[in-house]
Amino acid sequence: MASYIVMTLLFVFSASAEFVWKHHNNEELPLVLEEVHQKCPNITRVYALSEPSVCNVPLYVIEFSDSPGFHQPYKPEVKYVGNMHGNEVLGRELLLGLADYLCDQYLKQDRRIRALIHSTRIHLLPSMNPDGWQLSTDTGGQDYLIGRNNNHSVDLNRNFPDLDAITFEFERQGINHNNHLLKDLTRLAAPLEPETRAVMRWIMSIPFVLSAAIHGGDLVANYPYDESRSGAPVSEYSASPDDDTFRELATTYASAHADMASASRRGCHTTSSDDSATYNFGKQGGVTNGAAWYSLKGGMQDFNYLATNAFEVTLELGCDKYPAASELAKEWERNREALLAYLWKAHIGIKGIVNDDSGFIQNAIISVVNITGPVPRPIRHDVTTGAYGDYYRLLTPGHYEVTASHPGYFPVSRVVTVPHHQTSAHVLNFRLEVCIFLTIF
Ligand SMILES: *[C@@H]1O[C@H](CO)[C@@H](O)[C@H](O)[C@H]1NC(C)=O
Ligand SMILES: *[C@@H]1O[C@H](CO)[C@@H](O)[C@H](O)[C@H]1NC(C)=O
Ligand SMILES: *[C@@H]1O[C@H](CO)[C@@H](O)[C@H](O)[C@H]1NC(C)=O
Ligand SMILES: [Zn+2]
Repeated sequence: MASYIVMTLLFVFSASAEFVWKHHNNEELPLVLEEVHQKCPNITRVYALSEPSVCNVPLYVIEFSDSPGFHQPYKPEVKYVGNMHGNEVLGRELLLGLADYLCDQYLKQDRRIRALIHSTRIHLLPSMNPDGWQLSTDTGGQDYLIGRNNNHSVDLNRNFPDLDAITFEFERQGINHNNHLLKDLTRLAAPLEPETRAVMRWIMSIPFVLSAAIHGGDLVANYPYDESRSGAPVSEYSASPDDDTFRELATTYASAHADMASASRRGCHTTSSDDSATYNFGKQGGVTNGAAWYSLKGGMQDFNYLATNAFEVTLELGCDKYPAASELAKEWERNREALLAYLWKAHIGIKGIVNDDSGFIQNAIISVVNITGPVPRPIRHDVTTGAYGDYYRLLTPGHYEVTASHPGYFPVSRVVTVPHHQTSAHVLNFRLEVCIFLTIF
């Protein structure tokens, strides 16, 4: 009898502590996050976004950091967003599994994971669309569209403010105002959904540097812009000013994935008789520009880049939008290194603090000219300093002239070389002097 009770208790204990690969429903999802937090209380925090879904399901996030709840200067912030389309469910389970893995490896003294968590603040939102997940799951999870939208039948990846239209207009007029464009928005094409509003507030309130949203239905890493300049619906490459850096970010994921970048794999939408169809992304390194595939307005990816300092890509992690539970452990193995390699990309390029004689300068502008080749090329997308005067400027290897400026100060420029294989961004600090003519009054 006694041994029976002990066995039962052991079973209950291990069943609750051990992460299981399965489809976690909307009640189980926060329990998994809470269990990870119980195991790793010093390096995690579970929180919900500012408002819940249409059907009142909270949008839970787990954060990993060595000082949970706080931004620290010199530490870039990264996020992963899963299950934005409710019927694309792999990202949701991969992010729950990633949370469990980061905690376990941290406790096992895995040096790489400890270094990552000590140098980076990581936020995981496993499900941005729990209502769509519920509808998709209740109807068998096999439909290409049912459950994609939220409970108001709105596609959340079309519901963000269209800042591309603003940046394209400024480009046409030769106006070099190229970042934080939300304040230039004069009207919304459609009301914002609660899930969109919650995620927008999150994006605007934490100084994210890097991000990825996880989808399904193809196998490719897709980078900005998602919207074409001409309005063409398909096949128009729409380069952002950071095209080179975005290709590097997308390629990092694709190359570290089991076969996203494999030229010999079959495309998701090719038939056995015709393997030459246009969109076999393995044949182009597993990456695509968004609009070169198909154009969309109101996407989250371009919003991140044009409203904040964050660089976001969209990861399509498989042909099957709702893989069977029995496939999930295998999918984790196929994606694990890619998920980790991408998080490390928050550390490429340069970072630093902008100061004056009395302290930090917030909202200083960091602009960059690429001087690697014979012709200097400005990268027309500035980043800004945050609450501690700190900035993070993702860049690929090369030579750059970097300028820090702020109204009322003399701008300062410095030349820097960004090396290959960075695990920490090159530190480049600036001290600005107040303009004399402003201080004599
Ligand atoms: C959390 O931090 C405390 C105090 O530093 C330490 O005693 C404890 O062992 C840590 N717990 C874990 C799980 O790392
Ligand atoms: C909204 O949620 C309710 C309750 O779960 C469900 O019956 C209904 O089909 C959903 N509607 C849409 C459009 O998703
Ligand atoms: C910088 O310029 C070089 C030479 O033109 C080019 O190969 C590289 O892609 C550029 N880097 C960025 C980040 O644009
Ligand atoms: Zn999707």
